[in-house]
Amino acid sequence: MKIAVIGSGIMGNGIAQVFATSGHHVTILDISNEVLRKAENTIAKSLIKLSQKDAKIVPSEVLARLNYTTDKQELRDADLVIEAITENIEVKKKVFRELDELCEPKTILASNTSSLGIGDMAAVTNRKDRVCGMHFFNPVPLMKLVEITATDETSEETIQIAEMLVKQMNKESIHVKDTPLFVVNRLLVPFICEAITLVEEGTASPADIDKAMQLGANHPIGPLWLADIIGLDTMLHIQEALFVKTNDSKYRVPELLREMVARGELGRKSGKGFYQY
Ligand code: NAI
Repeated sequence: MKIAVIGSGIMGNGIAQVFATSGHHVTILDISNEVLRKAENTIAKSLIKLSQKDAKIVPSEVLARLNYTTDKQELRDADLVIEAITENIEVKKKVFRELDELCEPKTILASNTSSLGIGDMAAVTNRKDRVCGMHFFNPVPLMKLVEITATDETSEETIQIAEMLVKQMNKESIHVKDTPLFVVNRLLVPFICEAITLVEEGTASPADIDKAMQLGANHPIGPLWLADIIGLDTMLHIQEALFVKTNDSKYRVPELLREMVARGELGRKSGKGFYQY
């Protein structure tokens, strides 16, 4: 199949890579050639690393299936376009509107959004039956799950194609209704926020909270360690979106999270979060 990925950031690169690894021809579109050159490098490095563990991956073959462009016209005949651009509904709606006008009627339009409504993006198109969510997890080449999100108008055929594509990547899918944060983040983000509230209340230290969940609930890593990996700014953004969408006080953002982000303590990427790096 012909796949197109819009946005060659952390997620877009990974998504393009796994589609190409599973045998599809992939066009990656971003706003500048400079960003695309970086993406090309990142993907090549990742493939070389993965091929050392998995002999079935031949980097030169996968790279030959990837094509980089800044020209939307090249997406016209794609079978599926998935966007992984900035998490902003107005920007995403603009892209969906443009794609709907540009692409052939057969083209499925998918979004990798983690917190925005698939229905809101579908609403600006004339192909609501061919719009769905395909939510990958970071790092895409390693994480096994894809959440496939359907609105009330997404067709069964669209879901089946998305499912088939996920299977071809050797990943697993789950089906989710178009609801705030879908399943993984809906459970994970409030859970991490509750751990942050425990730190705020002085109930236990970050290290002890993490130890509690690792040894008492068999989690591979603790919630605060995970928050530092995800990035506290991202955590704040997602929990805020959940609170706004549901208007439910149980999803309020912990004050400590806001303070840490305001101080630039964003976790691993800034050198300090709940731990020092
Ligand atoms: P990022 O900031 O790393 O990459 C976004 C890319 O999109 C940039 O290269 C930017 O130049 C490009 N872009 C922005 N507007 C564009 C446009 N109009 N046309 C073409 N390219 C455009 O972002 P990241 O982290 O990869 O996130 C992308 C999407 O994936 C967001 O919707 C986010 O919520 C979602 N997501 C992110 C995860 C993560 O762990 N970072 C996990 C799962 C989903």
